[in-house]
Amino acid sequence: MGAERDARWLLQRLREEEDLRPPYRLQREQRWVMEATVLRDEDGSPTAYTELRKHLFAVELTTVVVDPHHRGKGLSHALVEAAVQSTTARPLILFTRSAALQRAVARAGFVQRRIWNPLTLSSVGLRAAMRCGRMLLLGDLRKLWAQVAHVAAFRCWVLDDGKTA
Ligand SMILES: CC(C)(COP(=O)(O)OP(=O)(O)OC[C@H]1O[C@@H](n2cnc3c(N)ncnc32)[C@H](O)[C@@H]1OP(=O)(O)O)[C@@H](O)C(=O)NCCC(=O)NCCS
Repeated sequence: MGAERDARWLLQRLREEEDLRPPYRLQREQRWVMEATVLRDEDGSPTAYTELRKHLFAVELTTVVVDPHHRGKGLSHALVEAAVQSTTARPLILFTRSAALQRAVARAGFVQRRIWNPLTLSSVGLRAAMRCGRMLLLGDLRKLWAQVAHVAAFRCWVLDDGKTA
């Protein structure tokens, strides 16, 4: 029941936010939310969410979102910190064009850096292409256009905490 509520909350965010990945079916989202980092309010309702996705030789912190009613309160710092603590996988990478999120990851120890490993780059590129394909399939041209038009504004950040995988 908790996972279903979380998944429905997440689906709403995925539909609203143009920089997030496209939504998948409820059952699939339910499986993913059970492995994700979720912050909650005192009633147990989700307030912030992020998930990890594996690439070749890297793990990506992705789908970082704070509930619209809880934005601007510093929750992104707690969220990124909790997600970093949830994994020992390295390198831990993140792509964003959000100024607020860039402040949060910088404070958590990420630095802006290019990815040079061609296998990681291919893996990231393939995942991005699949997401674009899904946006097309869903007919979500608004999200597709927002992400394609702003692709150059996305920056890559890598956690620099001295740990290796
Ligand atoms: C991006 C997002 C996660 C930020 O969450 P948030 O909890 O509202 O952010 P915070 O209140 O923790 O703010 C983080 C920092 O950014 C700063 N900030 C907020 N808005 C900013 C802006 N427009 N420009 C620059 N800095 C900004 C805050 O002052 C804060 O700085 P500080 O704590 O270092 O002083 C949230 O806005 C969101 O869910 N956006 C929609 C989904 C999205 O686009 N996610 C990114 C996907 S790539």
